Amino acid sequence: MITTTGLTKVYRSRGREVTALDGVDLHVREGEVYGVLGQSGAGKSTLIRCVNLLERPSSGTVTVAGQDLTALAGRGPRAGRELRRARSRIGMVFQHFNLLSSRTVQDNVELPLEILGLSGKERSRKALDLLDLVGLADKAKAYPAQLSGGQKQRVGIARALAGEPKVLLSDEATSALDPETTRSILGLLRDLNRQLGLTVLLITHEMDVVKTVCDSAALMRDGRVVESGTVTDLLATPGSELSRALFPVSGEASGADRTVVDVTFHGEAATRPVISELARTYNVDVSILGAAMDTVAGRQVGRMRIELPGRFEENVVPIGYLREQGLQVDVAGTAPAAGTAGAPAAEPVPAPAKQQIEEGAK
Ligand SMILES: Nc1ncnc2c1ncn2[C@@H]1O[C@H](COP(=O)(O)OP(=O)(O)O)[C@@H](O)[C@H]1O
Ligand SMILES: [Mg+2]
Repeated sequence: MITTTGLTKVYRSRGREVTALDGVDLHVREGEVYGVLGQSGAGKSTLIRCVNLLERPSSGTVTVAGQDLTALAGRGPRAGRELRRARSRIGMVFQHFNLLSSRTVQDNVELPLEILGLSGKERSRKALDLLDLVGLADKAKAYPAQLSGGQKQRVGIARALAGEPKVLLSDEATSALDPETTRSILGLLRDLNRQLGLTVLLITHEMDVVKTVCDSAALMRDGRVVESGTVTDLLATPGSELSRALFPVSGEASGADRTVVDVTFHGEAATRPVISELARTYNVDVSILGAAMDTVAGRQVGRMRIELPGRFEENVVPIGYLREQGLQVDVAGTAPAAGTAGAPAAEPVPAPAKQQIEEGAK
């Protein structure tokens, strides 16, 4: 539904160049909710503004609903008209709502309909339908100042839907809202996604958002996409940064010569007593350092950090056993041997061990 290839944006100001996007290839499938994560300055907002061509990319292409928008930009009045029409089919929701304070809620929603040239009667009917859809039918005559933050954002969403978009872009739409309101707005986006078949591309810095509403996600850093995929696939990718951030488990090795392993359970594997089977089969003492269960992309997922006695080399067989049970196993670290006391217990994974594990997973 949205595809970018080699999307690059270089800002030039006062002789300085900032590469905000550096060859971004993004693929958002029709009907999915896609989350973009990354620290401030990573290029997220630039990406969204390039997707609807509010910002002209320096190079690369943007295709939305089969139409190459980059080919239309700056190609004379006729292409300009086509670009405006294409853009009116892409809804945009903003962090700071951007409502006109002098207009009623209904008139704010009617604004894009005026631009589309609908008659007064049509506009009014459509605006009231949209307000009903976002749960604000009773606020049509109110002014933005009389609304809560969550209600303002609902108006923003109704307005974004006025052009009957196929795609909704949202740049941190919930970051000015409290947690409960955030949840209700996200629930609304998810409902709209399902009811209207709307494809949603949203930027957020809240991991909970990704966990509750996104089908897929991408992590951006320095203008590049460093990880992307469906949330379920990311969770099943050894060493995935997004997966760790989405689903953190903590706990440190209790002493020297221990191997700490993160085990992720999906679906059926979650209900089998694999840990006690492991303990029995290999006669090892398994300690549980931390554990969490959660619903990710609508599926139950569990993650457990366990500790096995002995170094990684001594635990290759039990770890292989866990893998054979269909579990995802990441070696979180090996405590330093007794001789090297003084080093921190949760040292990074020794390179050879990590390599072996990842090769083993292929
Ligand atoms: N209009 C602009 N002119 C110059 N530099 C910009 C402009 N907009 C963004 N940048 C720079 O581009 C980089 C990416 O910014 P942005 O896309 O806003 O990141 P994010 O939304 O992830 O915080 C930053 O270094 C930012 O300073
Ligand atoms: Mg931003």
